[in-house]
Amino acid sequence: MSRFVVGISGASGVVIGLRLIEELSARNHEVHALVTDAAVSVIKHEVGTGHRFPKGVVRHALRDPRSPLNSSSFVTDAVVIAPCSMKTLAAIASGFADNLLVRAADTALRTGRRLVVMPRETPLSLSALENMASLKRGGAVILPPCVSYYHKPARVSDMTDFFVGKVLDVLGIENKLYKRWSEENP
Ligand SMILES: Cc1cc2nc3c(=O)[nH]c(=O)nc-3n(C[C@H](O)[C@H](O)[C@H](O)COP(=O)(O)O)c2cc1C
Repeated sequence: MSRFVVGISGASGVVIGLRLIEELSARNHEVHALVTDAAVSVIKHEVGTGHRFPKGVVRHALRDPRSPLNSSSFVTDAVVIAPCSMKTLAAIASGFADNLLVRAADTALRTGRRLVVMPRETPLSLSALENMASLKRGGAVILPPCVSYYHKPARVSDMTDFFVGKVLDVLGIENKLYKRWSEENP
């Protein structure tokens, strides 16, 4: 069992973070969830009001000085920001850790632990591109939720599972969430 922090910021595609939490939790991993205020609004808009985290998932307040997530002594296997808004991306890149989600990402970077960031915006500004480059140089995996067509998704949920499967691949977690490319099975 591994310990993961999943941060959901207020970019479009919040369902990716929610699905990732479900998948990690279903595999009995310890999951700590952080949801920004903007993400709460986007969840209402894109997912609806009835969403509940699976039992066992620990939801943390975003600003709690006593939270264990403030400290690098809270050892995690990975921090995933899914999706990552341009604001949160900028905050992580500049080290402006004014909430626990950014702090958790910052801690992953400074301790050399795995950080996966899923930035979502289009088109991208130069500052966003530079912030991504900065995180990449710092050792983060930049995994934008880029739509793929080759596996012939029929539904939005197929695309979501594709993105979540890609994150699980990076985390080294076996999954069959999307159809992998092969010459026999295009
Ligand atoms: C429906 C909706 C969709 C949004 N999509 C994006 C997006 O894809 N990328 C982005 O950077 N910001 C997006 N925003 C704007 C962010 O929510 C806003 O910049 C917010 O301040 C981000 O705060 P946070 O990083 O603390 O979550 C969206 C806002 C709304 C209401």
